[in-house]
Amino acid sequence: MSDTSTTPVWTAELSTPDAQATRALAARIGAGLRSGDLVLLNGELGAGKTTFTQGLGVGLGVREGIISPTFVLSRIHPSLSGGPDLVHVDAYRLADAGELEDLDLEQDLDTSVTVVEWGTGKAEQLSASRLEITLVRDTGSTMAEQGGEPVLDFSETDVDEPRSIAIAAFGTRWKDQRPF
Ligand SMILES: Nc1ncnc2c1ncn2[C@@H]1O[C@H](COP(=O)(O)OP(=O)(O)OP(=O)(O)O)[C@@H](O)[C@H]1O
Ligand SMILES: [Mg+2]
Repeated sequence: MSDTSTTPVWTAELSTPDAQATRALAARIGAGLRSGDLVLLNGELGAGKTTFTQGLGVGLGVREGIISPTFVLSRIHPSLSGGPDLVHVDAYRLADAGELEDLDLEQDLDTSVTVVEWGTGKAEQLSASRLEITLVRDTGSTMAEQGGEPVLDFSETDVDEPRSIAIAAFGTRWKDQRPF
């Protein structure tokens, strides 16, 4: 018997040509989310996790202004449409699941969609089901494969480039359910 907390119920591989397409994809996914849903976002610095979260916010219909919450570990974006709020967390500076517990996210879980940047390995315990989404900057991996210097400078250049976006769904919430 497979454990749905460690074996995905489905996976999908997508790609987007630019930041606006990443937001549009995330908006479609956001429109299919409901209270209690958990999304873990992974990928290097500058991969597009916050950009993706902005799209989720559009799809959910929450108040705008999603920015990197790096200095404030979590922010609540209230719904403007009577739907779930968006709780946006950045776990980059958190050492482990214990430090994430200290944020007391549990109290908002039932009324919100919770999105955790750098969440894998730290935030799975927040819910029995989750989407794990990994963004990869194609240019960097191509250069590394070609034997060039790997791109380590993920500075905020705003230059549009393709991203590979892998989605893995865990838990019974996502059995036979695809939010896009
Ligand atoms: N296809 C794309 N998808 C998403 N973002 C893109 C794409 N192409 C270019 N970008 C740009 O890459 C940058 C991604 O920055 P963003 O803050 O979303 O990354 P992040 O993964 O949240 O970084 P951090 O790890 O610092 O939190 C933005 O400037 C965005 O405009
Ligand atoms: Mg970010």
